Amino acid sequence: TPQALSGRAPQQQWSTRISFILAAAGAAVGLGNIWKFPYIAGENGGGAFILVYLACIALLGVPLLMAEVLIGRRGQQNPINSMARLAQEAGANPAWKNVGRLGVLTGFLLLSFYVVVAGWALAYIPVTASGTFTGLEPQAIGQRFDAHLEQPLVLIGWSTLVLLLTLGIVGRGVRKGLERAANLLMPLLFLFLVILVGYATTTGHFGAAVAFMFEPDFSKLTASGILVALGHAFFTLSIGGGAMMIYGSYLPPDVSIARTSMLVAVLDTAAALLAGLAIFPIVFAYGLEPGAGPGLIFVTLPIAFGQMPLGTLFGTLFFVMLSVAALTSAFSLIEPAIAWLTEKQGMSRLKASVLGGSGIWLLSLGTVLSFNLGAEWTLAGKTFFESLDYLTSGWMLPLGALLMALFTAWVMKPEITAYELGGESTGYRIWLLLIRFLAPVVILVIFLQAIGLIGL
Ligand code: PFF
Ligand code: NA
Repeated sequence: TPQALSGRAPQQQWSTRISFILAAAGAAVGLGNIWKFPYIAGENGGGAFILVYLACIALLGVPLLMAEVLIGRRGQQNPINSMARLAQEAGANPAWKNVGRLGVLTGFLLLSFYVVVAGWALAYIPVTASGTFTGLEPQAIGQRFDAHLEQPLVLIGWSTLVLLLTLGIVGRGVRKGLERAANLLMPLLFLFLVILVGYATTTGHFGAAVAFMFEPDFSKLTASGILVALGHAFFTLSIGGGAMMIYGSYLPPDVSIARTSMLVAVLDTAAALLAGLAIFPIVFAYGLEPGAGPGLIFVTLPIAFGQMPLGTLFGTLFFVMLSVAALTSAFSLIEPAIAWLTEKQGMSRLKASVLGGSGIWLLSLGTVLSFNLGAEWTLAGKTFFESLDYLTSGWMLPLGALLMALFTAWVMKPEITAYELGGESTGYRIWLLLIRFLAPVVILVIFLQAIGLIGL
């Protein structure tokens, strides 16, 4: 009968199951839920897009999250070494370790724009705290955000600060850094979202927002919208980028992968839907455009903060929470690279952080410039930021996830995956079916229709 592979020392593991859940939920819940989900749902017409997204989460996201955590927990190392180790255990081609490499690279690219957007959130803490939005006209609030984007040096300053904070915490390691931050901050974020939804119910447009989000109009759904929904399901759950693999590798052997994965998916979905329910009522109440793009929350929520009682206090705390949510996800984006540099290249955590951080910083300049001086530099109509987002979320994460599905389902021995998932129960058989057939077929079909080879 299979046994666990030799693994990390206990001090390199999460101290409790709850810590893992909070850290994994911290990795999952981030800008993807609060910043990205509402604006892409708005751009893609609402209801039908959200339905496809929810189906992707339930049918593909959860089983793939389990697969990725499983690889990490069994491999007990960084994504590249873990893949190599499990390929060897299965007697398979060592080239499978390239899946780990792809994950490390994807996390790296994602983080380069993630820090820029997180920088917007951080910058809005002092802006909100100084009472800027109190009584300000919605239009002026929109102009305020546009003006912010037009200053490259200011954007660079804030994204650099985000990067330094990320590295400062990640540099401290699993228990001292990652765990402590997540335990404290995650629960607060949820409280805040609920309060904001409470405010949104007073705008008089809550019903319109619910209809926009939950009444599907399939005529608004496009081929590219389906790819965006699929990619976002992976992005929001942090699948396909090695993040959940590395977090899984810190998971003690006796924790149920299935239960924790489901819980993480539920928390993540709840956060996204709450964010939508907080934002769209304001969009409709003030006649704003749901498809306004990446600035959506930075324009809608400040309107609310400018009007509601105690709005300055609330707004300030909200942007603190948003920054924190972004930071806990940013850790997970860089941790695969750091673990690889320390475990494989023998660097200290500090040196690895400095090296990885410098690369990300350089690349982040491309995203910064795409909102101002470089707004005209486009590739197939997409700015640098849009291209990076499209490449990573639309293609690299789904590809990474597809390869992980194929690996766990067809390369690893079923005895071993069953062992890691707690035995050959009905749940295990359903998981195996989804991961063997449904996930690869759906991802491939969506890829083919996105490049126009098949029409749906
Ligand atoms: N899941 C994060 C979010 O929703 O903001 C983003 C993310 C983190 C994506 C880690 C991928 C990843 F590996
Ligand atoms: Na998320």
